[in-house]
Amino acid sequence: MKRSVRELNVEGKRVLVRVDFNVPLVNGQIADDSRIRGALATIRHLLERGAAVICCAHLGRPGGLPRAGLSLAPIASHLESLIDRPVQMAPDCVGSEVTEMAKTLEPGQILVLENLRFHDNEEANKPAFAKKLARLADVYVNDAFGAAHRAHSSTEGVAHHLESAAGLLMERELEVLGSVFGRKREKVAFISGGAKVSDKLELLESVVTHADVLCIGGAMANTFLTAGEVPVGTSLVEPEMFETARDIVGKAEKKKSRLLLPVDAVIAAGPDQPPRARPLSFEEETIPPEWSIFDVGPRTIEEFQTAIEEMDTIVWNGPLGLFEREAFGGGTRAMAQALTEIDAQTIVCGGETAAAVAQAGVAGRLTHVSTGGGAALELLEGKKLPGVEALPDA
Ligand code: 3PG
Repeated sequence: MKRSVRELNVEGKRVLVRVDFNVPLVNGQIADDSRIRGALATIRHLLERGAAVICCAHLGRPGGLPRAGLSLAPIASHLESLIDRPVQMAPDCVGSEVTEMAKTLEPGQILVLENLRFHDNEEANKPAFAKKLARLADVYVNDAFGAAHRAHSSTEGVAHHLESAAGLLMERELEVLGSVFGRKREKVAFISGGAKVSDKLELLESVVTHADVLCIGGAMANTFLTAGEVPVGTSLVEPEMFETARDIVGKAEKKKSRLLLPVDAVIAAGPDQPPRARPLSFEEETIPPEWSIFDVGPRTIEEFQTAIEEMDTIVWNGPLGLFEREAFGGGTRAMAQALTEIDAQTIVCGGETAAAVAQAGVAGRLTHVSTGGGAALELLEGKKLPGVEALPDA
């Protein structure tokens, strides 16, 4: 366990808090503020204990140069409305003006630094840059779980220069996700969706050796189906992954864990075309060669639901269909609903899946919706996260 922010003496101190404010923007507007909301507990905790809070974060991938569309200023304004007190916005994240702003920050006040990735030294994890960040504060708290798989100056380097601890969000994420596959005698199901096997290869290879049930949906299931000689028409497939898919099926058989693939699908002539009225059952019909799969069908959801009924924990990552199109979101919505009806620990990770459960209105009825995408997956793969490793043990 890592040292907690609760254990730090922060009264009268300036605390540099690495938060994950890397939120999706659509036309410059915040499309989902979950990550900002996720940081509120730690910020409030520090303010209540008499600290001055300096938030630092990245937004997007500006490539080491300032980019107007990726300023954290709109995020700072949104934070101000959520936390209901003034939030100061710095013109940069280092430099004399910022140093002065940090120095004069009083207990109870909040300062947000400008996008760290406007400097290429952030991603390069240059010690000199980490030292500059460290000089702004007395103490460092890492609450940016979503960025903990990056060894950058603000997530890793700075922890070597200041007294450090994990924030409350970071603690919760590590507690829930870090122990998924660690508890003996508990049954775990993993539901995996999304477009590509290649994106989640390491995850699938790790999960198949740990989970009791592995349900595969989304376009990645097409690769498994084709590898098992079920025709999928013109659906998205990754031929170079056929061998890997067969290997994963083989591993599941050897381990006696159940690997479930779709048994029916919602098909259409294209993503912009209406779906065929009837879902296609793979057992009864063959998909016409010019049609594609865009969602799992209702029988698949029933089978997934039955398979996960007896589980203690269910982890879901990746939508089961092209859920951003109403016509192809039925499987993902039904799965979200199914999770609320099960007496088990229910965990969702990844931006798209988190958005899907929010859209379905069930996020509040699940055990945990992670703010992490890549970080959550790496943790589930059993990897060490540099941003966590740099923090001292409790
Ligand atoms: C994320 O969105 O997964 C994190 O904030 C990390 O962002 P990155 O993939 O650009 O490093």
